[in-house]
Amino acid sequence: MRARAPFLTTIVTAGLLFYLSDISVAAASADETLVERGRYLVHAGGCITCHTEESADAVPLAGGYAVKSPFGTFYTPNITPDKETGIGNWSDEDFVRAFHQGLNPDGEAYFPAFPYTSYTGATREDLLAMKAYLFSLVPVRKEIPPHDLPVYMSSRLAARAWQLSYFDAARFEPDESRSAAWNRGAYLVRHLGHCGECHTPRGTLGALLHDRELTGNPDGADGESIPNITADRKDGIGRWSLSDIEYFLDLGMLPDGDFAGGSMSSVIEDNTSKLTREDRMAIATYIASLVPLESE
Ligand code: HEC
Ligand code: HEC
Repeated sequence: MRARAPFLTTIVTAGLLFYLSDISVAAASADETLVERGRYLVHAGGCITCHTEESADAVPLAGGYAVKSPFGTFYTPNITPDKETGIGNWSDEDFVRAFHQGLNPDGEAYFPAFPYTSYTGATREDLLAMKAYLFSLVPVRKEIPPHDLPVYMSSRLAARAWQLSYFDAARFEPDESRSAAWNRGAYLVRHLGHCGECHTPRGTLGALLHDRELTGNPDGADGESIPNITADRKDGIGRWSLSDIEYFLDLGMLPDGDFAGGSMSSVIEDNTSKLTREDRMAIATYIASLVPLESE
């Protein structure tokens, strides 16, 4: 009998070890799934375009890209998990608050050059998946220069004043009377993909004119003229089929055989071409449903 005890112990221990390693494999793959989902959403959010410097050896998401606006130049922060120069010390709450409320971990306001004005609609779940992905990246030590703004704009109090007048912190509310594809498209276009930040005209102090959603902006950043993408037949895309739109968002080719240029080419490269065909069709379904309006 005595000889059996160690044998049993071995079996039990082995079983336990097997069981434990099974748990940690399961945990690791749950983490991997979350990180993978976050990677997809970082594409859908177009984060790479803005948070990567325009130089051949730039590390994606380590910041330093210059966002030019009529109010001055903003240098995007390093969003790799470096503890000193990136966001490595951020809690989940810090991260969610930045997108939902446009506030930094000290409670100060971000400038709307960071399109939290659109990201505010994102779900907490999606944001935390993005955080998991960003925190899985190799931390990059990279100091970013301060924004180059006129004195009256340089304080975060100016950004706070802007928020109080023009920013509405609100989550996306699905419209039950519409299809699942329409709702998915609305979420991607209005919030994660922030298409309106370029395609919707702006009024006083850069506030988006939501009642003219996606009707184009003749005075886009950097002097670009951004086209109307409502179904208006004169200057919108009313003659495009849903698959024309999907094809364009995948490969950048217009129905007339021309290719997308300007800032849309990086939107396609970093964002829409990386999405599933289903998500691109959802985007097409949503934009095709917008009230056709002529550009002003
Ligand atoms: C149109 C350009 C643009 C896009 C797109 C963009 N950002 Fe930013 N982001 C900025 C700018 C500019 C700031 C700095 C704002 C400020 O200093 O007030 C910023 C700030 C941040 C911050 C705060 C960092 C800090 O150190 O305080 C985080 C986090 C962040 N962005 C993450 C993201 C993620 C994730 C995405 C994609 C979902 C994204 N950004 C998309 C321009 C952009
Ligand atoms: C950074 C600014 C920017 C963002 C963000 C952006 N676009 Fe564009 N978009 C442009 C520009 C500029 C053009 C014109 C490209 C050209 O001249 O070839 C364009 C063109 C287009 C066109 C073709 C219109 C036409 O008549 O030729 C479609 C469709 C389109 N965008 C859809 C989208 C969708 C959907 C999103 C969001 C996922 C989006 N865009 C986000 C800047 C942007």
